[in-house]
Amino acid sequence: MLAGKHILLIIGGGIAAFKSLDLIRRLRERGAEVTPVITRAGQEFVTPLSASGLAARKVYTELFDLTEEAEMGHIELSRSADLVVVAPATADLLGKMAGGLANDLASTLLMATDKRVLVAPAMNVRMWEHPACQRNVATLKDDGVLFVGPNEGAMACGEFGPGRMSEPLEIVAGIEAALADGPLKGKHILVTSGPTHEPIDPVRYIANRSSGAQGTAIASALAGLGADVTFVTGPADVAPPSGVNVIPVQSAQDMLAAVNAALPADGAVFAAAVADWRVASASDSKIKKDTKGSLPVLEFAENPDILKTVSQMGKTRPKLVVGFAAETDDVIANATAKRARKGCDWIIANDVSPETGIMGGSENAVTLISDAGAEDWPRMSKDQVARQLALRISDALS
Ligand code: C5P
Repeated sequence: MLAGKHILLIIGGGIAAFKSLDLIRRLRERGAEVTPVITRAGQEFVTPLSASGLAARKVYTELFDLTEEAEMGHIELSRSADLVVVAPATADLLGKMAGGLANDLASTLLMATDKRVLVAPAMNVRMWEHPACQRNVATLKDDGVLFVGPNEGAMACGEFGPGRMSEPLEIVAGIEAALADGPLKGKHILVTSGPTHEPIDPVRYIANRSSGAQGTAIASALAGLGADVTFVTGPADVAPPSGVNVIPVQSAQDMLAAVNAALPADGAVFAAAVADWRVASASDSKIKKDTKGSLPVLEFAENPDILKTVSQMGKTRPKLVVGFAAETDDVIANATAKRARKGCDWIIANDVSPETGIMGGSENAVTLISDAGAEDWPRMSKDQVARQLALRISDALS
C-alpha cells in the first residue's frame, strides 16, 4: 500500500516518542521509506541510533550541520518526501507551526516543505485543551494540516482525557488515506488566476487589485484531490502552488491564448480578475512627457471574455465551467444574470464591497449559483472555500 512512498517523520519531544519507533517499523513493513528527524527534546526520549537502526537510513537532528547540509540541504530534505508526518506533535511544535517559526531543523523543514503535513498530537490534557493550543489547532486545520488524534485515555502524567498520541496503526491508516490517489486523478482542470496587466507602453500598464489568493487556493485544493492542474496566472501577489503546471501570462489576450493552448480539459475554473479593456494601441516606446503640458489620451478596446469564450465552445468545451462574479450590489441577481449571459455551469458569487474586507483579505463569503439555484456558503477562509469547491467539482466530474 505504501510501496515507494517516502515519509519524512519528525519525532518531537514527548513520552509518546517511543511509539514513533514502532511507527517506523509499521511503515517500513508496508514498503515505505522513512527518514527520521528528531528534535532536541525528542532525543531525550528516543536516540537517533534506534531510529536510524529501524529506518535503515540516516537520522537528521541539526539545522546547522555542515556535513548534513553538504549531503542534503534542509529544503531538499523537506521536499523529497511524499508526506511529512509529525509524531508526537507536541504543543510547542504545533505552536511553532501555527506561528510560522523556523528556529530548529524540524520547524524549518515544516516551513520549507511543499508537501502535505500530517500531525499526531500528544500532550497533557490541560495543554491540549488550553485556548492557545486550540487556536493553533484551528489555524493548522485551516492551513490544510491533517490531524490523527489525539485519543482520549489515561496519560503518562496520571491525568485522563484527550491528549494521548494515536496508536501507530491508527497513524499508518491516516498516512495511507493521505497518500491515496485522490478522486480527481486522471482529470485535467484548468484554473485562471490573478490580475492581468494591460500595457500602455513598455513601462506602464493598467492593473487591478486581485491578489490571486483565491485562484491559487483553488488550484492547490484541486491538485490535492489528485487533479492534473494547468494554472494560468497573471502577475499575482501570492506564489503559485506547487504540484501544478504554471503558465505565467501578463495580459488578457495572453491569458486567452494560454487557455486555448491548455484545452482540452475536463473542468475549468475562471478565478482571474481579467481587465475588461486594454489600451487600443499600446505604444512600442515609452510615451514622453510633453514639455508644453498636453496630456496623452488613451483609447480603449474591449478584451476577449475568456469565460464566455470557453463556455460557448463546441466540442472542446470542458464538461464543467465555473466562473466568478465579484459584485458590490444585488449580488445574487447580477451573478445569476451573468451565469446566463456567459453560459457557464456555475458562478461563485461574492460581495466585494469594501466593508466586507474580502478583496485582498483572507476570508470569503460566497454563493454557488447553478442550475439548482443559489446556495449560500458561510463566511470561511479562502482556503476552505477552495477545498469545498474542489470537492464539489470532484463530485460533478465523477
Ligand atoms: O464579467 P465579469 O468580469 O464580472 O465576469 C467575471 C468572470 O468572468 C470571472 O470568472 C472572470 O475570470 C471571467 N472573465 C474572463 N474574461 C474577461 C472578464 C471576465 O474570463 N475578459
